Amino acid sequence: MKALVILVAAGRGERMGADQPKAFLAVAGEPMLLHAARAFAGAPSVDGIVAVVPGDRIGAAREILAGVRKLRDVLAGGERRQDSVLAGLQSVPAGFDGVVLVHDAARPLVEVALIEAVVRAAGERGAALPVLPLVDTVKRVRDDRVVETLDRNTLAAAQTPQGFRVAVLHRAYKHAFRDGVILTDEAMAVERLGEEVVAVPGSLRNRKLTTPEDLAWAEALLRSEE
Ligand code: CTP
Ligand code: MG
Repeated sequence: MKALVILVAAGRGERMGADQPKAFLAVAGEPMLLHAARAFAGAPSVDGIVAVVPGDRIGAAREILAGVRKLRDVLAGGERRQDSVLAGLQSVPAGFDGVVLVHDAARPLVEVALIEAVVRAAGERGAALPVLPLVDTVKRVRDDRVVETLDRNTLAAAQTPQGFRVAVLHRAYKHAFRDGVILTDEAMAVERLGEEVVAVPGSLRNRKLTTPEDLAWAEALLRSEE
């Protein structure tokens, strides 16, 4: 099964608190966006990559990604994550019949093996995403009061890339936008239609870089591997 990637990088990175959008910050000397794009370029099932970036960063992103094989386009994103994903989805050629992957540029250390596992599961079953078990005990809290303890064994943390047969994602997005749903990931749009989403094992390395501490963690990891 062949895959096209929508690499979403159009967020502001407010929690990172930097002077530029998060995906443009360097990790070990190169922008997160470039690390992520290269990982997908190295995945055998990936045929094309579309990067979605802030509207005023298209030129900068084209320069950063100039040497990346399989890069098809750089597009402007939107206000919400789902608007950025939609921009990418609308660029998928009408005749494409494979898997669409949506990946956070903020997860620059994603591995090829994980990408391939998601493509395989999504191709076979319609939708798939990587998950990690939770390490902490999880409570439901309202204001300053604990309401209950959730059964950790039934919970998991969702990562990207999330993969979908293209028709599945089109259908799920159409319904979510029609119903005015705020999506925090793409799989959520499929789940709400009652359709199957397969969970494959995620990876610690594929952590989302959200805060300066996460950036320091990634820097240290890459440096230790030099
Ligand atoms: N994203 C996007 N378009 C948006 C919002 C988010 O393409 N309107 C992308 C981000 O660039 C990121 C991914 O979605 O690669 C995951 O989002 P997150 O980690 O929340 O990044 P930001 O929204 O940039 O960060 P913050 O929430 O701290 O502002
Ligand atoms: Mg965000």
